[in-house]
Amino acid sequence: MPSATFTAGTVSNSVPMLAGPRHEQILAAMHATLQPRTYLEIGVDHGETLRLAHCPSIGIDPDMDISQQVIGDKTACLLFRMPSDRFFGAFDPVTLLGDKVDFAFLDGMHLFEFLLRDFINVERSCRRNSVIVLHDCIPTDPYLSRRHRLDESLRGITRIPGGWCGDVWKTVLILRQYRPDLRIHSFDSALTGIVLVTNLDPGSDVLEQNYAEAVETFAPLTLQDYGLKRYIDELVVKDAQLLMDPVHLAQFVWL
Ligand SMILES: C[S@@+](CC[C@H](N)C(=O)[O-])C[C@H]1O[C@@H](n2cnc3c(N)ncnc32)[C@H](O)[C@@H]1O
Repeated sequence: MPSATFTAGTVSNSVPMLAGPRHEQILAAMHATLQPRTYLEIGVDHGETLRLAHCPSIGIDPDMDISQQVIGDKTACLLFRMPSDRFFGAFDPVTLLGDKVDFAFLDGMHLFEFLLRDFINVERSCRRNSVIVLHDCIPTDPYLSRRHRLDESLRGITRIPGGWCGDVWKTVLILRQYRPDLRIHSFDSALTGIVLVTNLDPGSDVLEQNYAEAVETFAPLTLQDYGLKRYIDELVVKDAQLLMDPVHLAQFVWL
């Protein structure tokens, strides 16, 4: 699948909308194909994605409002109503699950330093070939990438009013800069993408050691400064349909 290409559109400073399968469809397919032994999710909200897991799972969210059956056929489902930083300060996922984390979905606070800490904390509990999926890291216009959710100053340029990725796109840049050993693959899941990270190193302290420098360096950067098209081109965004097919999925991740 070719990378997303920029075409001049009626919406200024934007790239084509991401039109691949939604993240719920992709996660369901990944659970079915990979059959992870364990699952950890940050950002549970109503439980739409936690319910897709079949294995022993951990869900973390300070404001979860579960409106459906999330336990399903899981033998264990541990819910923590607290911010992820608080969770990792008090609990060890490996001890709770009795095993390393095979599969993680990071969809909590949409600010880059939060996602960076979530990644650091989750990687520690993973195997090398575990997969960490990041949500909302591919904004298709600067409105979506605004840091303050209530800032509506760019609403006029977006095709997704009310949508909010925050600035977690910068976490991908930080991972690329500080951890070239990671395998990072981006996919055009509607509406704001998913990013798969694998070839993890649970023993690495590179991100932790460089956390303060990375946050200080990347804090002032905006998507307009960096260049939206440049960001999308550098990610080499692939067709998310690839993840729905076990044969193609095997190219990116195995458990
Ligand atoms: C976009 S929703 C998650 C949606 C869910 N994963 C899904 O796809 O249906 C983001 C969630 O992150 C939660 N959140 C915000 N800050 C958080 C934090 N510090 N730690 C964990 N979760 C957080 C919010 O309460 C919210 O429910």
